[in-house]
Amino acid sequence: MSTTATQLDQRQLRDVFGLYPSGVVAVAGKVEGQKVGIAASSFTSVSIDPPLVSFSIAKVSNTWPALRRSAGLGISVLADHHDVICRQLAGPADRRFDGLPVEVAEDGAVLLTEGLATLRTRIHSEIEAGDHLIVLLEVVEVTTNPEREPLIFHRSGFKRLHRDDLDPSELDGRINGAPVPKS
Ligand SMILES: Cc1cc2nc3c(=O)[nH]c(=O)nc-3n(C[C@H](O)[C@H](O)[C@H](O)COP(=O)(O)O)c2cc1C
Repeated sequence: MSTTATQLDQRQLRDVFGLYPSGVVAVAGKVEGQKVGIAASSFTSVSIDPPLVSFSIAKVSNTWPALRRSAGLGISVLADHHDVICRQLAGPADRRFDGLPVEVAEDGAVLLTEGLATLRTRIHSEIEAGDHLIVLLEVVEVTTNPEREPLIFHRSGFKRLHRDDLDPSELDGRINGAPVPKS
């Protein structure tokens, strides 16, 4: 089913955006003794040199005005056992960190100890983008737990990666249902 741009409505847009699978991160910091943060699926890598990543935050966010005051922002890539934690990080603000094992860096960055990876970052810039802000972050330090598997967010639900990786020597792409001819 196709839809032209003039027929776009917000429900359709959300559905289309939701077809694109992503990971999820926790973005968190400590401000005036309180841990504050959100779950974000808009995280993406941006630049290697200088090291930059980004995420988008809704302009209506109640958390961002406080969170942006933390000198350091922690990004934790959620692992596949973090589905409940992810909902918690998006839920009532005063309970987001209940029972969560975290480390707090000197600069206030809050990092989940069981994340797939953590990035200690500082805000580089904020770019207006419609009803969101694109927040560019400079990466200061990283840690990884590569033996863990990522939490996948797709069509408003949580998934795991399939173990059936495509064999690079035998990729099974199709065009109109037929195998792509080998060149
Ligand atoms: C899987 C998932 C991904 C999310 N991704 C984003 C995101 O990229 N940007 C955003 O602004 N909010 C995102 N949210 C919503 C926030 O986690 C949070 O619920 C929202 O900011 C409202 O809380 P606040 O008013 O305290 O900011 C996401 C929620 C979930 C469950």
